[in-house]
Amino acid sequence: MQESLDDYQKVCETNEIPDDTGHVVSIDDHEIAIFEVDDEFLAITNVCPHQGGPLAEGKVEEKTVFCPWHGYEFDLESGDHIQAFSDDLSCVTYDVVVQDDAVHVKV
Ligand code: FES
Repeated sequence: MQESLDDYQKVCETNEIPDDTGHVVSIDDHEIAIFEVDDEFLAITNVCPHQGGPLAEGKVEEKTVFCPWHGYEFDLESGDHIQAFSDDLSCVTYDVVVQDDAVHVKV
């Protein structure tokens, strides 16, 4: 049975997401980075909470993204800053559903 997409918006196709980095989409004023990790699709804010670096351009290892500006690491599932200097450095994450090769995100 397919999951209801009532609260989700289609943002892209799965084949638009690169293997080793992210793909940026926008919903209203949310700039969102979509990643594919081991056939799982994960969405996190594209705006690094440190100084605004573009997380979609960051390198990904397992489920961690490294901000391209200063290398801070964020968990793509929880949004937590790995080094945990401060709770203020957590990122917003978003629920993702893929149906028929279309990526849908809930904001
Ligand atoms: S802007 Fe992302 S680590 Fe500094």
